[in-house]
Amino acid sequence: MRDPETPRRALVVLTGAGVSADSGVPTFRDAGGLWEGHRVEEVATPEAWARDPRTVWRFYQLRRAALATVAPNPAHDALAELEREMTARGHGFTLITQNVDDLHQRAGSTAIAMHGRLATLACERCGATTEDRENVDPERFVPCAACGHARLRPDVVWFGEVPRALDAIDRAVRSATHFAAIGTSGVVYPAAGLLSLARFAGAETHVVSLDAPENLHAADRFHPGRAAEVVPGLVRQWLDAW
Ligand code: APR
Repeated sequence: MRDPETPRRALVVLTGAGVSADSGVPTFRDAGGLWEGHRVEEVATPEAWARDPRTVWRFYQLRRAALATVAPNPAHDALAELEREMTARGHGFTLITQNVDDLHQRAGSTAIAMHGRLATLACERCGATTEDRENVDPERFVPCAACGHARLRPDVVWFGEVPRALDAIDRAVRSATHFAAIGTSGVVYPAAGLLSLARFAGAETHVVSLDAPENLHAADRFHPGRAAEVVPGLVRQWLDAW
């Protein structure tokens, strides 16, 4: 229960690849944004899937296979604890992630996965989605069990596609009293615009990142460093104050 003297807080946290970097998941832009000589943006588009599905499938199957080799780190764990505590005390809490790796969910968070999830596949013909962590062979497509279509696609949002749950995200950010962007370079929209939107709506804004992100101007407080080291302390500070 919240101390009656403490006003209700509504915290929105947006995470990006930097949160999972300490779990060993490579970020997009730190390695030059290249994969086997392809720019990531060239592999992660509907046009690439239409033109060269084998290359796109291989890229995603390697990342899907890697899911089994990584685990949540102290930043994921601290955010899951923050959600449990905030909720128990009657505060608002929303976690939005751009990550497709599922580590927040495995740590126990209820995350809005705005760019989709690697652990699910989707049928481009009938729209059926299926949880699938088994079929990770980079050379074999997975057929749709619902309609028989020969080829499921990764259930992720590609460049040029519309991110998920934008209405819910917009509502949460506009009513936030506090907002934190963690481990995201602030270059991919609409996610990158949420920090400014939160500040415009009156929230106190925080950024945690190894390097200053592009949109740092919209942050009231910058906490430089590795997410796994900085986030647990920040969470403790918030929970002590709220
Ligand atoms: N702790 C905190 N921050 C880190 C760490 C770390 N251990 N390691 C890297 N970072 C920071 C980097 O300084 C960088 O600012 O995390 C950010 C990662 O940026 P990107 O690789 O651009 O990842 P992200 O912002 O999540 O990308 C957004 O772009 O490719 C698309 O759809 C994909 O969701 C992705 C989106």
